[in-house]
Amino acid sequence: VTADDLQQLTGALDPALVIVTVADGEARSGCVVGFSTQCSVDPPRYAVWLSRANHTYGVAAGAAHLAVHFPTESDREIAALFGGETDDEVDKFARCGWRPGEGGVPLLEACPNRFVGRRVSTLDDDGDHVCFVLEPVEISSGGPFRPLLHSRLDDLEPGHEP
Ligand SMILES: Cc1cc2nc3c(=O)[nH]c(=O)nc-3n(C[C@H](O)[C@H](O)[C@H](O)COP(=O)(O)O)c2cc1C
Repeated sequence: VTADDLQQLTGALDPALVIVTVADGEARSGCVVGFSTQCSVDPPRYAVWLSRANHTYGVAAGAAHLAVHFPTESDREIAALFGGETDDEVDKFARCGWRPGEGGVPLLEACPNRFVGRRVSTLDDDGDHVCFVLEPVEISSGGPFRPLLHSRLDDLEPGHEP
């Protein structure tokens, strides 16, 4: 089975996107993530997969907490910043409103639907993405919302190829 064979199936899906942000005491970073899901009900756990190629991954490797933001269908602009630019080249946090949360992790003003997760495990099976399993320790909600679906960013060139 090739990557293209699998893409033919998964390409038909239209997952909700999240924006993951991290800080390790020295650097900040964040990117759009399509590979994410709740993975336990009780205890609550949520998993995100970060590409090794991304600046975000390098910072996440040294971070105890990751923030997961749930952009709404009208948050295309901030998603384009975090999915189309790389912190290797630009300072995304100079271009948006944010404040530091637990462990300094950046909390994006534009995305009040979010949680801060403590990293409980990492699954690295030599794929191009690494799984971070998170225990939510702080959660905030801006009320009911319609998520930003992958199809809304179809034309966006990612800041990094995986
Ligand atoms: C629709 C879409 C889905 C993406 N899904 C993921 C993902 O699941 N995991 C990931 O690490 N990057 C994903 N990316 C790529 C990063 O968001 C993108 O390369 C970003 O510019 C990386 O920024 P950084 O280098 O500052 O971390 C996705 C990008 C887009 C546009």
